[in-house]
Amino acid sequence: EKDGHDWFMRKEIFEQPESVAAALLGRHTERGQLMLDEVRIDDEALRDIDRIIVVGCGTAAYAGQVAKYAIEHWTRIPVEVELAHEFRYRDPILTRNTLVVAISQSGETADTLMAIRHARAQRAKVLAICNTNGATIPRESDAVIYTHAGPEIGVASTKGFLTQMVACYLLGLYLAQLRGTKFGDEIAAVVRDLDRIPAQVQQVLDGAQQVYDLAQELLDAKVVLFLGRHAGYPVAMEGALKLKELAYIHAEGFAAGELKHGPIALIEPGLPVFCVVPPRGRDQLHDKMVSAIQEIRARGARTIVLAEAGDTTVADVADELIELPQVPVLLQPLVATVPLQLFACELATLMGHDVDQPRNLAKSVTVE
Ligand code: F6R
Repeated sequence: EKDGHDWFMRKEIFEQPESVAAALLGRHTERGQLMLDEVRIDDEALRDIDRIIVVGCGTAAYAGQVAKYAIEHWTRIPVEVELAHEFRYRDPILTRNTLVVAISQSGETADTLMAIRHARAQRAKVLAICNTNGATIPRESDAVIYTHAGPEIGVASTKGFLTQMVACYLLGLYLAQLRGTKFGDEIAAVVRDLDRIPAQVQQVLDGAQQVYDLAQELLDAKVVLFLGRHAGYPVAMEGALKLKELAYIHAEGFAAGELKHGPIALIEPGLPVFCVVPPRGRDQLHDKMVSAIQEIRARGARTIVLAEAGDTTVADVADELIELPQVPVLLQPLVATVPLQLFACELATLMGHDVDQPRNLAKSVTVE
């Protein structure tokens, strides 16, 4: 049942090329035209959407943070992301032109369910991104995009997360197509990039041994930090969450730009810091990330750098370099998350923890 793996989690990590392919299947034509027929909100109403609020908890909320970068960029619709359990208590401003996107692997998370009930009572439109057919959250939503990852059994979300991001990208591209904010050929180009992701995730998985060796070396770590920028920032937080829940060690994800505003005080000799480097591009994101890594390394941090293959600028600042396939910055979370999942799974295994059933946690949190 675990396909020869020790844990469901590891099996599910290794299934991700197929899961991502399944999430993309049948949702675009060969020419990159998007078709999301489960979105039962008519196109007219979708054209009028003037605000999007993404709600979810834990890993699903991080998928929402990635979605914000992509959807705003492609559609120019303002996107907010909020933890589902905080959402209704701030008395959010909702109108019939607000689209609330509820992300939930299980579709049963009580906090998220209560958030969408609140949103619908205020006449907002609700679209669920869910992995479980017929679960309560999609049943109570106006529309649903199923992620088609197949059952996720390990408590820690892995393929659920990657496919949630895919669904968010598809939604963003669909809205862009509908509203004409991106020309068809630009959308088709992103769709082609998405179609390459399953093979690229496979490449990352093929390098698992490097990550496993690293876990062995870091077995005594008491604290691990993660840094990212832009779409890599939620990846950093997701990497930290995986370590907290599986290895029970203090881990924190920071936006690299925030370092000098406080967290750099935490850096001490030997402290492991994972750094997700954005692809080299026209903006300064990449170079700023590299200088942040320089700064922490000068203070003794042990830097584990995730950067795209061929990026020679990181060689000098990386104690350990994990090469990622070349993908556009908005899609990078799909490949950059994978080594962090492998690391948490392996470290927890080496520590003797039950990876599939971490202490104090349940797969689906059906109480508020
Ligand atoms: C982390 C994890 C949790 C869930 C969260 C939401 O690995 O699994 O943070 O992501 O409890 O669960 P769903 O997506 O089922 O609503």
